Amino acid sequence: MSDSQILIFKNPASIAEAFAKNLKEWTAADKPFHLALSGGSTPQILFQYLSTLPADYLPWSRIHLWWGDERAVPADHAESNFGMTKTYLLDHISIPAENIHRVKGEVDPERAAQEYMEEITRLITFKNDWPVFDLIMLGMGDDGHTASIFPHEIYLLRSPQICAVATHPVSGQKRITLTGRVINAAEKVAFLVTGKNKTEKVSEIMKKLPEAHIYPAAYIQPTEGQLYWFLDYDSYGMA
Ligand code: 6PG
Repeated sequence: MSDSQILIFKNPASIAEAFAKNLKEWTAADKPFHLALSGGSTPQILFQYLSTLPADYLPWSRIHLWWGDERAVPADHAESNFGMTKTYLLDHISIPAENIHRVKGEVDPERAAQEYMEEITRLITFKNDWPVFDLIMLGMGDDGHTASIFPHEIYLLRSPQICAVATHPVSGQKRITLTGRVINAAEKVAFLVTGKNKTEKVSEIMKKLPEAHIYPAAYIQPTEGQLYWFLDYDSYGMA
């Protein structure tokens, strides 16, 4: 079992600053760094902060950006995780185009998943039959989902595939997601979770309560890597 660190911060802005410092440390080695980003609203604050830092704060020429999941929509769609990253980060930093590995949300989801899996297989080192990302950023939904592994498709945690097509339980929107065994194969996995609407699920997961057994986020525990929870006072339930 790998080790886990629970890091508590006053607010999302403090998480962004701390995460950036960690990212600088984690990307110090002179080699490619394969980073899978999460989507949703929480990462926006981090991306906005990263875009204000000096151009050489992070070694963008060595950082490869992937996505833990993507909505099956075009890149310029309001719900595209790539589109959000482009708006808040990519348009403000100098990173080689070949270092950006977006999921093609505009094509058939099964084809997008296949092409994404092929790109991962081509570029990322494997260990024990799974690609090893240097760092996978994750959020957690208020239903306990992570990436696009939702409670009603919790079997995706054990999928034999690197990527899968998932379905949002409410909207029916198709998603392409990394699967559970890829996430748990990573060198590092970092949850960034903020807000009072996550307090209950965070608490149930941290305390390993029975309620958590249906939350996909509860099963994220890197096989050999490190797990970090970046939480704010609200999501951790601190006054
Ligand atoms: C997505 C994300 C998803 C997200 C959680 C939390 O595509 O929506 O990857 O897993 O991390 O839903 O989203 P918020 O940060 O917006 O609460």
